[in-house]
Amino acid sequence: MIDLHCHILFGVDDGPQTLDDSLALARALVVDGITTVVSTSHILDPPLSMQVIKEGIKTLEQEFSARGIDLKLLPGGENHYSLSIEEMRGHSINGSRYLLLEFPHNNLPSVAGDLVFTLRSAGLIPIIAHPERNGTLLRDPELLSPLIDQGALAQLTAASLAGDFGSPVHQCARYLLRKGLVHFIATDSHGADWRVPRMTAGVKEATKLIGRAAIQQLVVENPLRVVEDRDWIYE
Ligand SMILES: [Fe+2]
Repeated sequence: MIDLHCHILFGVDDGPQTLDDSLALARALVVDGITTVVSTSHILDPPLSMQVIKEGIKTLEQEFSARGIDLKLLPGGENHYSLSIEEMRGHSINGSRYLLLEFPHNNLPSVAGDLVFTLRSAGLIPIIAHPERNGTLLRDPELLSPLIDQGALAQLTAASLAGDFGSPVHQCARYLLRKGLVHFIATDSHGADWRVPRMTAGVKEATKLIGRAAIQQLVVENPLRVVEDRDWIYE
């Protein structure tokens, strides 16, 4: 499986703090069935530079290789919605037109629709991170539909499907999945002890809802399309 959302770099955000923490997370990801992971540290203001991200990835790649950890790393970022369009472009997934977009947790800002429009007009494709954990969407999940209709994509967090964030988030995740409003399941993992990778558990739960073929699309085929920067096929 390909994980499009993961805080694997150490010492840059609320993910791992040390190299050992990153290595422990990497091992947990491999055990959870992940073969490729996109490094999506929080990109806030002032933004973490892509040079720092790429250097962090290089360091981890060398450590993985020395320790026999079989996990491919790609660059990216979790872009806060308040960043400029050009900052977001500079922190897209593996240099593609796709980027991970983070809204505040408590509400969906009134500019969300305009932002999706602007990003699409700039040739970018936003992937909305964990809509099931957003306060506004928790109350009314249907509010995600207009953003998807405008060409945004959405990423569910596997741990939400596993029930780790409580019942309302669990129910919202299940609703969005059944309604076909999500395009990816990712771990959004932060460590081996806290916010751990839960892909296997999430996929198991999701398979009961939409079946194995649809899940394959969400954890392998769609993420591969993104990291290879292929055109999205809108249905
Ligand atoms: Fe995240």
